[in-house]
Amino acid sequence: MERLARLSARLEGDVERANAILKQAKEIVVLTGAGVSAESGIPTFRGSGGLWRTRRPEELATPEAFRETPDLVWEWYQWRRRLIAECSPNAGHQALARLALKRDGVTLITQNVDGLHNRAARTEARAMNIADPQAAFPLELHGAINRDRCSLCDRRTDGVSHHESGLPRCNDCGGPLRPDVVWFGETLDPVIIGAAQEVALSADVCLVAGTSALVHPAASLPSMTLRAGGVLIEVNLEDTTLTNHAEVSLKGRSASLLPRVITA
Ligand code: OAD
Repeated sequence: MERLARLSARLEGDVERANAILKQAKEIVVLTGAGVSAESGIPTFRGSGGLWRTRRPEELATPEAFRETPDLVWEWYQWRRRLIAECSPNAGHQALARLALKRDGVTLITQNVDGLHNRAARTEARAMNIADPQAAFPLELHGAINRDRCSLCDRRTDGVSHHESGLPRCNDCGGPLRPDVVWFGETLDPVIIGAAQEVALSADVCLVAGTSALVHPAASLPSMTLRAGGVLIEVNLEDTTLTNHAEVSLKGRSASLLPRVITA
């Protein structure tokens, strides 16, 4: 009992410290990962119940897998699309959206492809009477699952083929469509990762939430802020490689912690 009370008092102190750091910051960069969508019902990759616990990424999330078994890869992504369509942004996405809409100098960066930050941005902007939600749209480092891209001509289409079964073809060139996500072995869009690195270098605070920080180059962004003299705040259920470098490490669920940390 006493131990629980001590832990809870420590967490409360850490939340207050993180809150004060964010209030004073001029430029904030936020990096999110699958953990921020866990409480919306979307499985993470490496945690318990994570997608990579039962399937190997090489079978489903590489260009080679798509060449060898395109129908299997397509069906797996259709399954994920259906699952995501039934989920809604949680209080963590909403708190981050409000932060980015309210304050200048806030950039959201996500490794998630689920589009929940964008959905939260639209809802929160409407609630705040802000016509343009753009400021709360994240830089999507790994793409967007609800977009298709032709694997031959690169033409992108929004949501056209979500309910089709079987591998759809590009209207322009007839090439097989694929989800517009970054697969293992592929490089990130240089414009998007370049923009993310620029803000990571100039931010005085990097708030990292719900990522195992194992997949690079995304995982290198917090270190860039640190090396440039900024500080790190981490929100995660577990320790990561970043935890020892964090000014404040908050252990818990992002949907309950982020709204408490972000009050400005
Ligand atoms: P991971 O599954 O690797 O890590 C999820 C992290 O979230 C873990 O550190 C968990 O402890 C933490 N977590 C889980 N639930 C949480 C909660 N409710 N609140 C706070 N933290 C929680 O996911 P990512 O780090 O996003 O890439 O994975 C990075 C990339 O690897 C993904 O974008 C994807 C994947 O393979 C591609 O598909 C290219």
